[in-house]
Amino acid sequence: MDVDGAKILVTGASRGLGAEIVRELARRGASIVLTARSAGPLEELAAAVDGEVVVADLADPDDASRVRALVADCDAIVLNAGIGEDPPLDEIDDARIDQVIDVNLRVPISLSIAYAQQRIASGRPGAIALVGSVAGIAASPGSRLYNATKFGLRGFALSFAEELHGTGVTCSLVAPGFIRDAGMFHDSGTELPAGVRTKSPADVAAGVLRALTDAPPEVVVAPPELQLMARFASLAPGTSGRVQRLVDVEGRRRRAEQV
Ligand SMILES: NC(=O)c1ccc[n+]([C@@H]2O[C@H](COP(=O)([O-])OP(=O)(O)OC[C@H]3O[C@@H](n4cnc5c(N)ncnc54)[C@H](OP(=O)(O)O)[C@@H]3O)[C@@H](O)[C@H]2O)c1
Repeated sequence: MDVDGAKILVTGASRGLGAEIVRELARRGASIVLTARSAGPLEELAAAVDGEVVVADLADPDDASRVRALVADCDAIVLNAGIGEDPPLDEIDDARIDQVIDVNLRVPISLSIAYAQQRIASGRPGAIALVGSVAGIAASPGSRLYNATKFGLRGFALSFAEELHGTGVTCSLVAPGFIRDAGMFHDSGTELPAGVRTKSPADVAAGVLRALTDAPPEVVVAPPELQLMARFASLAPGTSGRVQRLVDVEGRRRRAEQV
């Protein structure tokens, strides 16, 4: 699809990677519908890009329905909103599990399906970019809800991309690794083991642009060595677990939480 002149809905647009995606798509001539819960930051960014704001909590079924009612009129949707923090084991309850599944998995699936159904039924083309994660390829300790939802999102996206082939509506997964300067990994303050490289929010925005314009099934936004490590971890989770214990992945995460 051509982003110039397109109307594009972006979820999770209030900060982090979503804000960078909004700026990049607007620079390319798209008109943006920005959605998230935080009205103030959304209004500020919308004013800068001449966009439209929809304040919505995707874990609230009524709010999610309001967003669902908007998607059919968009030339593309970028489903980027996500919850990264996984609470310590003794603090997890069903309400938290439901919230993470809703925001990271159920609502992106529901919006994608509603979007494709309506665009195909009305004979209009469309593009879906789902923002997953390298955490949808490889698991790490203490990230169980995040890993579960991102693995699920990847499965959905790859299947749906193939199913939509030839319909005029495309679906691509954008899977970032560790992103510096903005976003949930940056905000967590987690220190990476020596030699593990990061990518920038601009790299993620470029990945989303590629997902919308070229529609490959998956765009991984991570250095080649991290991509290889993730593929290896999915083939050999036991060995990957031992390596992660060796470099103290869980300790790094816990120390960052305490700061
Ligand atoms: N940053 C990274 O290193 C990295 C790496 C891999 C994948 N990712 C993925 O990239 C995406 C964006 O992450 P980020 O790093 O930009 O995270 P972030 O800075 O924490 O931003 C998350 C966004 O999601 C929105 N959101 C959270 N809960 C929501 C809810 N209940 N309803 C509606 N919106 C909600 C937030 O807006 P409000 O709080 O205003 O609602 C915010 O705009 C996520 O899907 C994440 O999994 C990020």
